[in-house]
Amino acid sequence: MTHQEAQAEIQRLTALVRHHNVLYYQESAPEISDYAFDQLLERLTQLENQFPTLRLPDSPTQKVGEQPTKNFVTVHHRHPMLSLSNTYSEAEIHNFFQKAQKLLQGEPMELFCELKFDGVAISLSYKSGILERVVTRGDGKKGDDITKNAQTITTLPKRIRAKGIPQYFEVRGEVLMPRACFEALNKERLAQGEGPLANPRNTAAGTLKMIDDKIVAQRLLTFYPYALKVDEIALRTQEASIHLLEEWGFATSPTYKKCSTIGEVISYINYWSANRNNLPVDIDGIVIKINSLAQQEKLGYTTKSPRWAIAYKYKPTRVATILEKVGYQVGRTGAVTPVAHLKPVLLAGTTVKRASLYNNNELKKLNLCLEDSVFVEKGGDIIPKVTGVDIAQRKVGSKPIIFPTHCPACGTVLVQYGADVGYYCPSEKTCPPQLKGRIKHFVHRKAMHIASIGSKTVDLLFDKGLLRTPADLYQLRYEEICLLEGFKKTATRNLLQGITQSKKTPFEKVLFALGIRHVGETVAEKLAHHFQHIDALIQASEEDISLVPEVGKKIAYSVKTYFLDADNLKLVAALKHAGLQFNVSTTPITTEKQPLAGKTFVISGNFQRLDRTLLKTHIKRHGGRLLTAVSKNVDYLVTGKKAGPAKLATAQALGIQVLSEEKITNMMGL
Ligand code: IVH
Repeated sequence: MTHQEAQAEIQRLTALVRHHNVLYYQESAPEISDYAFDQLLERLTQLENQFPTLRLPDSPTQKVGEQPTKNFVTVHHRHPMLSLSNTYSEAEIHNFFQKAQKLLQGEPMELFCELKFDGVAISLSYKSGILERVVTRGDGKKGDDITKNAQTITTLPKRIRAKGIPQYFEVRGEVLMPRACFEALNKERLAQGEGPLANPRNTAAGTLKMIDDKIVAQRLLTFYPYALKVDEIALRTQEASIHLLEEWGFATSPTYKKCSTIGEVISYINYWSANRNNLPVDIDGIVIKINSLAQQEKLGYTTKSPRWAIAYKYKPTRVATILEKVGYQVGRTGAVTPVAHLKPVLLAGTTVKRASLYNNNELKKLNLCLEDSVFVEKGGDIIPKVTGVDIAQRKVGSKPIIFPTHCPACGTVLVQYGADVGYYCPSEKTCPPQLKGRIKHFVHRKAMHIASIGSKTVDLLFDKGLLRTPADLYQLRYEEICLLEGFKKTATRNLLQGITQSKKTPFEKVLFALGIRHVGETVAEKLAHHFQHIDALIQASEEDISLVPEVGKKIAYSVKTYFLDADNLKLVAALKHAGLQFNVSTTPITTEKQPLAGKTFVISGNFQRLDRTLLKTHIKRHGGRLLTAVSKNVDYLVTGKKAGPAKLATAQALGIQVLSEEKITNMMGL
């Protein structure tokens, strides 16, 4: 390669690595696999080593990738958060071992192997045993203060009670979304007509940067520590650090192993390569560390990574198979999603017949033809993905796959909305999969929770002409259902009973069940409790709606547009007529279930689980009386965050019992 060619190649690779760094770290939306990224970076490093004068001063090979994002306070790390040098080959592990051995002049060495958790690196600082601050890795020198969000992670100790706890120490580790939680979240998204999230790592990263910590809490993230930085205790080994963290109440992953030989390390690598699918979280390799901290200090660091550790990364599980056809699914919102139908193939322990192609852009990029030999990957992603085509195998005259111009279900010309890359079928009133999708959403566990009607039953009832809208559910008759295949007496009775019971579903769930675009469970709750009654919401202006906390302009527009539509108003009227709940319940529960009867309450501050209005409603429903000022007539002061100090002082002076949110909700059995 000439000097000039090398220069051009270095420039091209630098631009590519930068581009993918932004996608990965700032937008949490990578377009290529980690493996492909590492290949790019390695090629760039090689060329720079070969032509050192061509290395750009700010080359990405010299920096850790992420740039801190906006909206969060930037904090400088006391100790930089570096990355690890990566390898995909056993030979390099021998190399690493030999280099370390040489630098340590033949001293005996122990190795400590850990899993390389595929999540988000964070640093926790503790003062006198109390968790003070949580910061993301950022660019390695400074990151974002995400304390509030990280505090919702239940496995992360907020306070450590142990003898001899140091004044100050830092814990480094990885935040992860367990695979089961990720799958549940995606299922829920699909049920709500939203696209699936790509993988647990990006979802964890996105979650930690959310504004609303209540949503973070619902996402059930977890944390595994892998390093302790403390000056006040003389630790000897990485193993001792991990054990001390365990003593202090940190949940570590019990997968680490002390090894004395490279052979043992290779067995560890092979064991986890075969068993990684049984872990609750994703890993993308293993980390090999020199166990002795004194030896680590002797070995030191390069500008980017420690010389005392190396990461062995697993290649993504990838297989080749034949693309038999591309199908198109139409969701409840009309979004058309291409799905690859594959010749069944075994991949990471499961037989794969379908793989996601995400959207028309992805399809275009792949440039697929029918009968192509395609590569299917299951990296951190749960849903297998078509990642490339083996062009060399393409048969002459193969037919290219072209995204349809018309809806595959109803034939309407597809449209695009604004900046959204997806194509949509605009026939929302007549397109069968959209109509079915809305009914499936309506009966969903998180909406009306009609357990006696699953997706197949909706299809059957729809195809038999018994259902068009959710309101038709309440018109179904015994005689017409028991004639259907699979519906004998009991099944029919159960089905109808489920529908009748659903009439008691509270207003906020009914509102969510309507399936208004962008109105998820939380927004539905906020809207219901703000407006109290559907008529108030229907009459509200777009501006009124956008004033509700956490409801932005996009949601307000969507809600207003929904209620300007005559068919939607007809649906609401029919559901009202059927007896569904369209206002926040104020009816007191039966007297024997009124644990707060005769007691008087004042509430002060902001609450976590129930918002203020909802908390008041519950207190009243459980027999309590509410007052606004603390006096001797008050039995309890309920305090949330930022409770009024004057109220608290008065309560203390008068000997009035102060209740936390947890206490009061417990008293009401919530
Ligand atoms: S030790 C000096 N141990 O991998 C860096 N890192 O490329 C020491 N990671 O950002 C890191 N599992 O987030 C270490 N068992 C483990 C790890 C681990 C995952 C991540 C970490 C870091 C990246 C390094």
